[in-house]
Amino acid sequence: MKYAHIVGWGSFRPDKILTNNDLARMVDTSDEWIYSRTGIRERRIASEKETTATLAFEAAARALKRADLHPSQVELIIVATSTPEYIFPSTACRVQDYLGATKAGAFDLSAACSGFVYGLSMASQAIQTESVRNAIVIGAETMSRVLDWDDRGTCILFGDGAGAVVLKGSSVPGGVLASTLRSDGSGGDLLSLPAVYHNPVPVLGPEYLHNGHKKNTVEMNGRQVFRFATQVIATSIEETIAKAGLKIDEIDLIVPHQANTRIIETAAKRLKIPQERFFMNVDAVGNTSAASIPIALCDAVHDGRLRPDDNVVFVGFGGGLTWAASVIKWNVTPPEISLPRREWKRARYIVARGRSKLKKWRRRIIDRFSVSPTPEARMRDADKK
Ligand code: UT7
Repeated sequence: MKYAHIVGWGSFRPDKILTNNDLARMVDTSDEWIYSRTGIRERRIASEKETTATLAFEAAARALKRADLHPSQVELIIVATSTPEYIFPSTACRVQDYLGATKAGAFDLSAACSGFVYGLSMASQAIQTESVRNAIVIGAETMSRVLDWDDRGTCILFGDGAGAVVLKGSSVPGGVLASTLRSDGSGGDLLSLPAVYHNPVPVLGPEYLHNGHKKNTVEMNGRQVFRFATQVIATSIEETIAKAGLKIDEIDLIVPHQANTRIIETAAKRLKIPQERFFMNVDAVGNTSAASIPIALCDAVHDGRLRPDDNVVFVGFGGGLTWAASVIKWNVTPPEISLPRREWKRARYIVARGRSKLKKWRRRIIDRFSVSPTPEARMRDADKK
């Protein structure tokens, strides 16, 4: 039995900033309303060239660099997302290709804003049972592509971005200590997004939009989701720290899903702990769904909020309904990496793209010149065997 330690972390935000004042020019809202009700000041929006997979790749490459792990050593890639470009191939497979992670299994995970914690739990179990030696868990979203930009109740909340962690097996006790995953499908209609959002198929008619959807964008009952969130944050944290044999006073930092500062204020009161024990960066990024916890983790590390041996809690909640929490012992100091090596590391991804293109060409050439055997020839071959 191994312990799954976080040994690398990285995040990526698109350059384009959309402020509350920008939104006030698009819908009937104001900076004052948005900031006082949510704590959000601005969010990032992906450019036309950026996709969930490219954002995920950037975050993963940074996490691998910090972990000092070569992509060819990666054994598992999990991408938590609600905004894949394709149902298949998965976003995780695209990231695998971009990284050149030639020995990795890869799959997407759908648990909305709880997806990163779900992925962390799955990956840590795979490491603990020695099914894999390491894994990358990524939360990545381009929420801007699935919003109704005329709906002021939702378009002001969300942003784009990606965050990733590298987990590695070790016999040193620590890492992911305990997790709790929960769901309640009866509340699915409170926060939802129909699957066919790129090309509504006309032949299906409007009935394809289930759950009372009138459009193919995010729909939310904000008040009910708010009430649900404040309840489950407290209960899932209490349940998970008890599993890890810890008390709330032994938790140094809680990194929650970044949805709304008022949700965190209420949860802190329920848990009877100071609000400062929660790390918040929603003001700068908005709600980035599955990406929000790993992005916040990176900012917390950057701000010096995490020290070796700290007990950290991740807690997510959102569509499904789903909610989840994990307790982590933060006890691996990453190695220092010198700059020339870093430059060299970036070059490996150019090589990976080249290799990917060569493979595509090879497949095309084989396809062009291979002659498919006639049924008679196939039977002859089978007889010979
Ligand atoms: O990541 C998944 C988890 N998602 C969440 O956690 C979201 C949880 N919900 C929330 O954060 C809050 O419910 C919101 C921020 C979405 C809304 O805040 P609220 O305090 O619950 O507002 P409300 O929906 O009760 O609306 C209050 C008023 C309404 O007007 P009336 O009916 O009182 O006249 C809304 O029409 O505010 C109005 N309103 C707005 N006004 C200006 C709603 N959106 C806006 C807006 N700007 N953007």
